[in-house]
Amino acid sequence: MFAERLDAAGARTQRALSVAMAEFAEQPVTHAMRYAVAGGKGLRGFLVLEGARLHGVAEAPASLAAAAIEAVHAYSLIHDDLPAMDDDDLRRGQPTVHVKWDEATAILAGDALQALAFDLLSRPEIGGPEISVALVQSLARAAGADGMVLGQALDIAAEAAETPLDMAAIEALQAKKTGALFDWAACAGPRLAGADPSAMAGYARALGLAFQIADDILDVEGDEAAAGKRLGKDAEAGKATVVGLLGLHEAKAYADRLIDAAISALAPYGEEAEALHEAARFVIARKA
Ligand code: IPE
Ligand code: IPE
Ligand code: MG
Ligand code: MG
Ligand code: MG
Repeated sequence: MFAERLDAAGARTQRALSVAMAEFAEQPVTHAMRYAVAGGKGLRGFLVLEGARLHGVAEAPASLAAAAIEAVHAYSLIHDDLPAMDDDDLRRGQPTVHVKWDEATAILAGDALQALAFDLLSRPEIGGPEISVALVQSLARAAGADGMVLGQALDIAAEAAETPLDMAAIEALQAKKTGALFDWAACAGPRLAGADPSAMAGYARALGLAFQIADDILDVEGDEAAAGKRLGKDAEAGKATVVGLLGLHEAKAYADRLIDAAISALAPYGEEAEALHEAARFVIARKA
């Protein structure tokens, strides 16, 4: 049930991305962009579409916002995999973009995917200038120097830190690195409807942390073929993770509590939010 819903949301987001990129010149950089947006779980796009559905938002603006966040996410993964960052050769079961093409193409494809996201949010179908500005500004902040980019910078800096980060510092890092894009995705629906995003923000706060803990657990005990990326790298690289600090057992218990908190935050939506409850359970049960 949930798997089908996630697939359907993914297909919708992918269609919006194909349309958005249809007119681009046939170049290595645009080929790399199309390659990089394909094949993921589409979880952030799913959050946009579910949040939009809960707030009665029409299909066209919801699809554009879902495409925008998946474009930013794909950009973040291309750059995350670069030799200067996590230096990975496998993503979504395929060679990473810099391996399949080269580093310059990977950097530029990431740059262009980020720009594309803001283009999509500026289209008239979003619902007018006021809504566009709210979405563009919130995404700029989520992705930028006080959001995902800061989280990534702290993640890389922690590799060389002399004293290990404590729980508060790790959570602050992960709230930026992973949480900021989840927050934007969850709040996009209410923002498109001009509604209060606070319940969705509460959900996303807990969900984002649990999501990154689950990713860090997979790095320790996941299956590389199922995950489609290299695992077993975080400890050696000196990554600051909740798993490294608390151990697997405690980290899992903490992720479980976070999922309960995420689901509780959705109380105002009642049973209408069942798919988001399932998404939360999926986040800590997934193998990829
Ligand atoms: C991976 O995100 C990067 C992290 C924030 C841990 P996902 O696990 O959502 O990656 P895809 O999009 O499904 O490949
Ligand atoms: C990536 O976190 C977070 C972003 C891309 C913003 P990770 O480095 O843990 O993600 P994976 O494990 O490579 O997917
Ligand atoms: Mg990383
Ligand atoms: Mg990585
Ligand atoms: Mg990881």
